[in-house]
Amino acid sequence: MAGVSRSAATSSSQESHTQDARIGRAIEELDTPTLLLDRAASDRNLAKMAGFFRDRSAKLRPHFKNHKCVTLAKRQMLAGAVGMTCAKLGEAEVLVENGISDVLIANQVVGSAKVERLVQLAKRARISVAVDHMDQVEAISRAAATAKSVVRLLIEVDIGMGRCGLPSSEAVLDLARKLQGMPGVEFGGLQAYEGHLVNVVDREQRRIQSRAAMGLAVETRQLIERTGIPVSCISGCSSATYDSTGILDGVDEVQAGTYATMDRQYVRLTPEFEIALSILVRVISRPSLGKAVLDVGVKGAGAEFGVPAIREYPDVVIPFFLAEEHVVVNQTPEWLIGQPLHLIPSHACTTCNLYREIVAHEDGVVVDIWPIEASGRLA
Ligand SMILES: Cc1ncc(COP(=O)(O)O)c(C=O)c1O
Repeated sequence: MAGVSRSAATSSSQESHTQDARIGRAIEELDTPTLLLDRAASDRNLAKMAGFFRDRSAKLRPHFKNHKCVTLAKRQMLAGAVGMTCAKLGEAEVLVENGISDVLIANQVVGSAKVERLVQLAKRARISVAVDHMDQVEAISRAAATAKSVVRLLIEVDIGMGRCGLPSSEAVLDLARKLQGMPGVEFGGLQAYEGHLVNVVDREQRRIQSRAAMGLAVETRQLIERTGIPVSCISGCSSATYDSTGILDGVDEVQAGTYATMDRQYVRLTPEFEIALSILVRVISRPSLGKAVLDVGVKGAGAEFGVPAIREYPDVVIPFFLAEEHVVVNQTPEWLIGQPLHLIPSHACTTCNLYREIVAHEDGVVVDIWPIEASGRLA
């Protein structure tokens, strides 16, 4: 198994819950709001995705941004991942501090303070980072050469999302040529993410469009290879495209993230994965007949993809009104003050970033407490 030992994979959770009085209690007794994870459901998601790639040429490099929780990352590594993907340097630092030895930052790292942290981190683990401009490359190369470390650079190709990345094959080839032989860096291949297509609900359309988009990265790879420069990797893809772009010839790594926890938005896209994440909340007010107020709002439930759902009452529609700390529900059933409910957030990734711990449960009983070590690590 790459990157993490079995004992390291369990130590974080063991340390975290030795004294925790919540272990063994029914989840409904917990204080609210509490971020919950159905451990068995998440394990099934991890096993399903790992199983899909077990005998394929592309390998899983799960995206840490989904949960930011080291225990979950280690469970993904144990299931067969070759390393982790991060959005932020701070997330990568958390992973390396906790024994993950192969980390890709699928994002640009810019500014002298960050570049210094990056090259120091590269002394402790295999670190790859996305670049799309010579200015980034030169800064990293200079700092890495001084620090005597080596940073692996993946040139980001914009395959239609319009975020970072070079838009044309020729521009990518030009950058690949320039960074050959530079000190402190090595050309690690291409970063390409088809994020503009992951929300296409029609699966066949998503498959066709995302394969066409990722095909641009594969063509770029071929162009570079024809000049004699080896391209060891294309890293990209998502939980919504793992079975389309993830099996494309020339794609080596799949950066799927949300499959580990799932959320309200994603389950429409890949229903083969289960919603393991929920937020335990309570009814705190019944100000009038048919109206209830719950004790979480946008400060506790990522809502960029819409309002959360109530697991026990899927037909109760939460109107688009989330205050900072309140959700107001109209036309409610006969809920009592203090009644616990499970909210399914529309976006797992921003939700996890709002909490410091995940309470893992099985069959409604708390089995573990997992710190979210990289919560709030934005830099
Ligand atoms: C660079 C990158 N790779 C992969 C993903 C896929 O993550 P998910 O599986 O959660 O859609 C994302 C999502 O934002 C991303 O930004």
